[in-house]
Amino acid sequence: MGKEAASAFGRWFVLKNIPVKPELVAVCDLNPDVLEWYRQVPSVEQLTTESNELLANEAVDVVYVAVPHHLHEQLYIEVLESGKDLLAEKPFGIDLPAARRIKEAADKLGRFVRCSSEFPFLPGPQRVIKEVQAGTFGKLIQIRSGFLHSSDMNPDKPINWKRQVKFCGEIGVMGDLGMHALHLPLRLGWKPENVYAQLQNLYTQRPDGNGGMADCDTWDNATLHSDVEIAGENVPMTVEMKRMAPGETNTWYIEIEGTEGGVRYSTKEPKTLWTFTRDKEQSWKKTDLGFLSVFPTITGGIFEPGFPDAFQQMLAAFFVEREGLLDSRFGCATPEEALQSQEIFAAAGVSHAKKKVVKSNLYAQ
Ligand SMILES: NC(=O)c1ccc[n+]([C@@H]2O[C@H](COP(=O)([O-])OP(=O)(O)OC[C@H]3O[C@@H](n4cnc5c(N)ncnc54)[C@H](O)[C@@H]3O)[C@@H](O)[C@H]2O)c1
Repeated sequence: MGKEAASAFGRWFVLKNIPVKPELVAVCDLNPDVLEWYRQVPSVEQLTTESNELLANEAVDVVYVAVPHHLHEQLYIEVLESGKDLLAEKPFGIDLPAARRIKEAADKLGRFVRCSSEFPFLPGPQRVIKEVQAGTFGKLIQIRSGFLHSSDMNPDKPINWKRQVKFCGEIGVMGDLGMHALHLPLRLGWKPENVYAQLQNLYTQRPDGNGGMADCDTWDNATLHSDVEIAGENVPMTVEMKRMAPGETNTWYIEIEGTEGGVRYSTKEPKTLWTFTRDKEQSWKKTDLGFLSVFPTITGGIFEPGFPDAFQQMLAAFFVEREGLLDSRFGCATPEEALQSQEIFAAAGVSHAKKKVVKSNLYAQ
């Protein structure tokens, strides 16, 4: 993900009239081969394997930290204590207590902190927000949101840190994919209240890369059945986070259905928005959205956006909001939203273990 950030900074000039121009000046990675890659980025002045060295660099104002989840708390807090602002990767700490400690440190030190979640910056999700805010859906019937992967369907895929509790946490796939699936519902004020979770560990061993097998002890898939209170009604909301969803490669989706209207968006059809109307006949209308970004770019309006575009838009939101210039535009996931997502994952873990419905607010402070 560090390379994705470098790519976004490297083509910052595509953003039109953007009031801030960040430059990638320093990179830290333990792996010298990874560091070597950054040598081709002309603005980089410091390459180091020691995070302390990067944090001592006075030319650095903001640090984007994309490391395995067991390192989040320590590195994030070190960034904040060094007097720098932080773009954190999800899940914002390995678990809820870690997330709380990170947020407490950010509040105490008064640093600007946001958490990564780029998909809502695509034109489709932005239109979803506008359609919801128009308030024309009638009574809401259901909400479905999810983020789906499938490379783990291959049992021969070697194990890595994302498949081991000691590195990615007890929350497993929820830590990996959950902030993505929850960001938009949480931004719309829809925090799941009562959570019933089904968690699955489908492949319990994977090749260790050295001819043997290693324990794969994380949750591969999580399905959360919940309800949210909207306009005095309990609305069912399902949140899917799956590493084993047949055929799905990074599919982020949201569907909101009401008695009078509805909306569906999936990155499977990245420029398409589906909207529902109930007239004499009921119909789902398919609209090509083109390149309607939060921050205007030089890309023509008829072209298709992709992952690198969403990621750059998210970075633009981070830096523009940090300057106090975001206005009414969509901003990055906040520490509060990251914390709420961890409260939901904590409730989900208990729900699955006890096979019962758990209130996520029990985990809120
Ligand atoms: N926003 C997204 O769409 C998205 C996508 C993938 C991953 N992520 C998140 O990004 C983070 C990293 O995931 P990834 O897929 O890039 O992982 P990765 O394993 O590809 O990269 C992690 C890098 O961190 C380096 N590293 C490990 N320990 C370090 C240390 N102490 N100091 C400096 N460098 C260290 C490793 O050498 C490696 O290059 C995770 O939090 C993950 O959840 C976000």
